[in-house]
Amino acid sequence: MRFGIFLLAGLIAADDASAAGETIVIDPPAEGSVSVAQGLEAWGRIFEVTSHPRCSNCHTGPSDRPMWSGPSYGRTRVHGMNIQAGESRMGIEHLQCSTCHTTKDTDWDNANAKPHSAPRVAMDWALAPPEAHWFGQSSEQICAQLRDPSLNGDRDMLELAEHLDHDLILHWAWTPGGGREPAPYDLQSHVNDLLEWGTAGMPCPQD
Ligand code: HEC
Ligand code: HEC
Repeated sequence: MRFGIFLLAGLIAADDASAAGETIVIDPPAEGSVSVAQGLEAWGRIFEVTSHPRCSNCHTGPSDRPMWSGPSYGRTRVHGMNIQAGESRMGIEHLQCSTCHTTKDTDWDNANAKPHSAPRVAMDWALAPPEAHWFGQSSEQICAQLRDPSLNGDRDMLELAEHLDHDLILHWAWTPGGGREPAPYDLQSHVNDLLEWGTAGMPCPQD
């Protein structure tokens, strides 16, 4: 049976509808309709996204250091200014991420237009949990993590897709501004790929 859940991305920050962008449709393919080969193709695209600097700069695993990488940075390095996320992953023990990655703006459409300023969204900026380790990891490693509920925040396919919709940081990753190159494809395609991969049984290249 096909079903769709329509979620308005702006709901968690009512005054931020313009920055949150479009409405995402979560509409998984019918059970049994996606082959393992198609699932693996979808995984290939998911890997391109998850390993992209706009995502992996924050998914640094056991390290509590965010990364500055991607063409707009010129070279790959750890976040300048000795930034440490600490166990809180928000820098509470040191200097909070939100000191610079602020959540306040009157003009969200242009908030990230200036090159080399700290990216901002209307939700608290934080480093991803250590288990969600993507920076410098292989397709096999990221795939194994993302399909394992004990490592992915106890999420099934639908919950992963919903997380993508709710997370304003992800909306930023596809429209980063400031000369940063966006994550590949677009948010809706990424959600569709995730649902296709999930319907195929979350196959990984190493299976
Ligand atoms: C500013 C830092 C930051 C960036 C950039 C970022 N993430 Fe995350 N990500 C997080 C945090 C924090 C969590 C934990 C949130 C939670 O569990 O509710 C998370 C969790 C996730 C999860 C939940 C599953 C898991 O394994 O923990 C997914 C899926 C995810 N991110 C996808 C992405 C994708 C795709 C991109 C790029 C388009 C991205 N993230 C970019 C910080 C970031
Ligand atoms: C003192 C200010 C400051 C603090 C505090 C800070 N950042 Fe940043 N951050 C910046 C600036 C400025 C940039 C952009 C640098 C550039 O583009 O050259 C940046 C960029 C980033 C990027 C790269 C985004 C991308 O892909 O282009 C990530 C990831 C990041 N910060 C994560 C964090 C996390 C996580 C914390 C808290 C643990 C944090 N930052 C704390 C100032 C700060």
